Amino acid sequence: MKQQLENIRQQALSALDSASSPEALEELRVRLLGKKGELTTVLKQMGKLSPEERPVMGQLANSVRAAIEEKLEQRKADIHAAVLEAKLKAEAVDVTIPGEAVALGHQHPMNMVLQEIKDIFIGMGYQVIDGPEVELASYNFTRLNIEEGHPSRDRSDTFYFTDDDSVLLRTQTSPMQIRAMENTQPPICILAPGRVYRKDEADATHSPMFHQIEGLVVAENVTMGDLKGALITMIRRLYRDDAVIRFRPHHFPFTEPSCETDMRCHKCHGTGEVDGQVCSTCHGEGWIEILGAGMVHPDVLRGCGIDPEKYSGFAFGIGLERMAMSRLRINDLRLIFDNDIRFLNQF
Ligand code: DAH
Repeated sequence: MKQQLENIRQQALSALDSASSPEALEELRVRLLGKKGELTTVLKQMGKLSPEERPVMGQLANSVRAAIEEKLEQRKADIHAAVLEAKLKAEAVDVTIPGEAVALGHQHPMNMVLQEIKDIFIGMGYQVIDGPEVELASYNFTRLNIEEGHPSRDRSDTFYFTDDDSVLLRTQTSPMQIRAMENTQPPICILAPGRVYRKDEADATHSPMFHQIEGLVVAENVTMGDLKGALITMIRRLYRDDAVIRFRPHHFPFTEPSCETDMRCHKCHGTGEVDGQVCSTCHGEGWIEILGAGMVHPDVLRGCGIDPEKYSGFAFGIGLERMAMSRLRINDLRLIFDNDIRFLNQF
């Protein structure tokens, strides 16, 4: 039995030495020390020994068990350290490899132009305000002097929410004039940019959603000259100091007199031609229409509780996409909304 125990010790220690994984160690532990393990099997034969031999063998068996257990612990620690080492090596990060650059975005080109325009008007003392896109028909039409039956109220042009046509997606930013005036007495000097909606098919110059920038100034002695001054200032800052605008008589129900304002084409300088070809920016017109404007109608002032005998005002509505297109030389409106990264990266 002594020999048996010595054999177990020797073989166990060398087997443990060559075990190289936690699984192999566990297998050995069961095989050596388990209930049906080698050591237990030998100890079961203790009964056959003489009373003198028994304590000697018992002591030997204990020392074999202790040696195996000690070795087991030591190998466990060794293997754990080796596994960790291997893992660290495998997952090592080479901090000297150049990183992948994160592509930084930037403002959308249309918002760049909006920001420029806002800055210019803020510089002239305007306050920028925001208002609802879901609007009451009374603000979008009625209080702007747009009577029942006016073509722009038609269901084929306007997105309505209710059967009685009282709630809609605003078709213009002009209802912001009413919102600005109804609870405030002059002086009023606001700029209201935002989205507007019309039932238009999308093409190179139309989109069912687009942006306008409404401007409104109401105070004592405001004249059409002030309107002209404000718009010339805006155009010259946005384009160049010699930019030219013209006013064409027009009709809007909420302004009187009303006009449309064109900017002399910055590409062909009003000639309509570039290198003998029809100018692609103004299509040979020499002028680019940029906004509608006029002097606020006395009835609109009165409807907001402002005395038209005391106060007068001007208003304008700029088409933002149109401004952005000519400012950034974009030839198709849809490019502004497609958000193709190849397009956006050019700005
Ligand atoms: N709201 C008009 C449109 O969508 C544009 C406009 C014209 C705005 C004259 C104004 C204005 O403020 O005075 O066509």
